[in-house]
Order: sequence, then C-alpha cells, then structure tokens
Amino acid sequence: MSSHSARSRRTTVPEFSAMKQAGKRISMLTAYDYTMAAILDQCGVDGILVGDSMSMVVQGHDSTIPVTLEEIIYHAEMVGRAVHNALLVVDMPFPSNHLGVHKAIANAGRILKSTRAQAVKLEGGADQAEVIHGLVSAGIPVMAHVGLRPQSIHQLGGYKVQRDEEILLNDARAAESAGAFAMVLECIPTSIAATITTELKIPTIGIGAGADCDGQILVINDLLGLTDGRLPKHVKQYADLRSGITSAVKAYCEEVQNGVFPTDEQSF
Ligand code: KIV
Repeated sequence: MSSHSARSRRTTVPEFSAMKQAGKRISMLTAYDYTMAAILDQCGVDGILVGDSMSMVVQGHDSTIPVTLEEIIYHAEMVGRAVHNALLVVDMPFPSNHLGVHKAIANAGRILKSTRAQAVKLEGGADQAEVIHGLVSAGIPVMAHVGLRPQSIHQLGGYKVQRDEEILLNDARAAESAGAFAMVLECIPTSIAATITTELKIPTIGIGAGADCDGQILVINDLLGLTDGRLPKHVKQYADLRSGITSAVKAYCEEVQNGVFPTDEQSF
C-alpha cells in the first residue's frame, strides 16, 4: 500500500474557523488508526478528531474515563501519518487538562509534538477558561466541548441531554472569550445550539445538537454501523459494516473448513 499518496496541504486552524464566515458547513469525524484516517481524509472530511471515545469503541471500556494520554498519543500518531488534507484535532483525555494550566500545556504540548495534531479538544467551558487561555497563549489551538461531557458522566448521572440554557450559554461565551477556535456542542436542544451558534463568531460543531450548528461530528464506528447494540438518537447510520464483516468472515471460515479456500488462484 502506498503510504503517502495524494499528499496535499492540510487545512489550517484559521481556515477551519473561517469556514463559518464563508457559510460553509463543516464535516468532522473521529478516527483512531491509520487505515480509517486515510480513507476519511481522502473522502474530503474537513476535520478528523482522535476522540477519547476510543476508550469505548477501540478499547472496550464502558466510559471515556479510562483512556490515558499515552494511549491517545499512540493512536494519534497512527492517524497523524494518514492525514494530509483535514484539520487534525486530538482529545485531551481525563484528567490531563484538570491538573493546572502548566500541566495542561505540558500534556497538550506532548500531543502536538508527537502526533502531527494541529489542535487539542478539551471538555469544558467556563470551568476550563483559564486552561484554554493558557494553552492558546502557548500557541496551542483549542476546540472546546460544551453540553454533555462524557468525562463527567458520574457527576452528570448519565448520558443525558443538557438543557440548562444559562449554563450552556455561559460555558460557550467563556470558552470563546478564552480563545477557543471552535466548539463541540454535545446533546443539547436544537434551539439552544442555534442561539449559541448565532451568538458566537467561532464555529460550533454539533453532535446531538440539531441542524443549526456550523458543522457536525459523529463517531466513525456509529456512522459505519460497526457499533454493537442500540445507537444514541443523534446517530445516523450510513452503512451496515457489522453485517458485511460478519458475512465475509463466516464465508471465509466455512470455505477454510470445507477446503474451498485457497484454490490454485491464490496459490504459488
Ligand atoms: O471523543 C469523541 O469522539 C468526541 C466526539 C463525539 C465529539 O468527543
């Protein structure tokens, strides 16, 4: 396989932010390895996030809390080798942005130095304003994440839609004022996401936040139908790869058992 085919210039952070003013809707997806990231990048997705959702969809944990900074960096290195067009953003895993501004800069710095990431994402709004400001002052672009914050699942008491307009607006304003260049809005009512999107100059990227956001993001495993079990309401499944893989693997096992594979065609 050619590793660096179709090399071109990557979307920059200012270009990504400017898409809002240009009225261009932004598409983002998660990726966790080289092969998938290369496919998404060649499809023309605007942004790729190495999300801490890898804790669940790659590592099999029941929340995003267990994944470590080292593990995120390991996967982001793979993704970084594949991305030549999209903006590459990497999540700050819990609690790498909660240990003070200096530690957050050290942790985000490690992500940027090791992975070809152009920005980090962190869960937080008003409570993380100081950290966002510190990172941005150090030259590290930050995508904020407001609304449902899966890293705070124990505090929130479940994966629930966040409906407190005052808190959400306050978080969004604080993150923008602190210097965030974009913001994920997760699982909030459409009307509140629309208000935030109208008020902010930076783009909002929705997941379960309705159609009025400046862009959308989904977990790639959900979009492709790889996820086992019930999907959240905000997911649209565009393919059923789980069934496709299941039939292919069953056919292979059967052919091996019956001596049908390999034939002369696959032999030397
Ligand atoms: O970790 C993740 O995949 C995310 C997106 C769903 C926004 O934070």
